[in-house]
Amino acid sequence: MTANGGALLEITDLGVSFTTDEGMVRAVDGVSLAVHPGRTLGIVGESGSGKSVATKAVIRLLPANARIDGGSRILLRRAEGEIDIARLPAGGRELRRLRGGDIGMIFQEPMASFSPVYTIGNQMIEAILAHRDHLDRRLGRRFDRRAARDHAIRMLERVGMSNARLRIDQYPHELSGGMRQRAMIALALSTHPSLLIADEPTTALDVTIQAQILDLMLELQRELGMAMLFITHDMGVIARIAEEVAVMYLGRIVERGPTREVIRDPAHPYTRGLLAALPRVETSRRRLTPVPGDIPSPLQRPAGCPFHTRCPRRMPGLCDREVPADTALDARRSVACHLFGGRAS
Ligand SMILES: Nc1ncnc2c1ncn2[C@@H]1O[C@H](COP(=O)(O)OP(=O)(O)OP(=O)(O)O)[C@@H](O)[C@H]1O
Ligand SMILES: [Mg+2]
Repeated sequence: MTANGGALLEITDLGVSFTTDEGMVRAVDGVSLAVHPGRTLGIVGESGSGKSVATKAVIRLLPANARIDGGSRILLRRAEGEIDIARLPAGGRELRRLRGGDIGMIFQEPMASFSPVYTIGNQMIEAILAHRDHLDRRLGRRFDRRAARDHAIRMLERVGMSNARLRIDQYPHELSGGMRQRAMIALALSTHPSLLIADEPTTALDVTIQAQILDLMLELQRELGMAMLFITHDMGVIARIAEEVAVMYLGRIVERGPTREVIRDPAHPYTRGLLAALPRVETSRRRLTPVPGDIPSPLQRPAGCPFHTRCPRRMPGLCDREVPADTALDARRSVACHLFGGRAS
């Protein structure tokens, strides 16, 4: 387990369920993780493993049929003090200040961040002005509208947009996909968040632009001293961007640790499966090769270890009955698998 003393974001026992017509969907089931200031935690896992739901919970952007468990904690540590995001009133002022202020967000689809009816510039300026107090604290500068526009232009230039002075007055649909993605990063970073949540921000882009955008994000991260929670299917992206990785399966974190170590010597059979077909993963940019078999429906979560239905090393009578506890492998690595001991209480 990680030592979480200095964590910027510390999630403990996060659970999220959805009420649906077919029944209850348990999308996130007891997730704990920590993101440290200025560092990057990658979350990797197949489609449907709960990556987006877990990170949307962090900014409380879940749909109305979602419920966060009462015991969940989502602590954010700021200079002004610590807050538990899980306990903030829905739709309240605190949450609005947090989103786009302390916590920036970028998604796979830039149109999720931009409204089609306002120019890029207008939306950036409004965001900068809405988070004026936060920017004042971060930069020691108070923006008026004119200064906000200059700042927006600088951010657009910073993300490699040529003619930013002209493009700032364009509408999102007037930009190419790659440029929209850059504009979304500029929008998210223009308020200098201390944590950036990036949910598959480069998946829709071609490989060359993807590499450029990842490099850009790393550069801006260093410059702004920002932490990142980075979600992807792609182990190549994780190897490039994240110091630490958490592997998620069916709503649970099955393994975590420093990226290099997890890739060099994966412990959990699921992580092993994910990595098995990736020769020289450090340089590979291939997507995860799915482990044989399908992820069970979250409407019918298997008893015991969620992975036992696909696990080549399952131990009947144990893995199908008891949920494996998180077991420390060393000071920074842990795995939730009966092969490594511990049983959950
Ligand atoms: N609004 C909703 N109502 C019911 N179930 C939902 C809802 N949103 C998500 N889920 C369920 O929660 C589970 C986790 O979904 P999530 O989107 O977090 O997966 P993911 O790991 O982000 O997958 P992907 O890689 O495809 O983005 C899925 O089983 C999904 O069907
Ligand atoms: Mg997702």
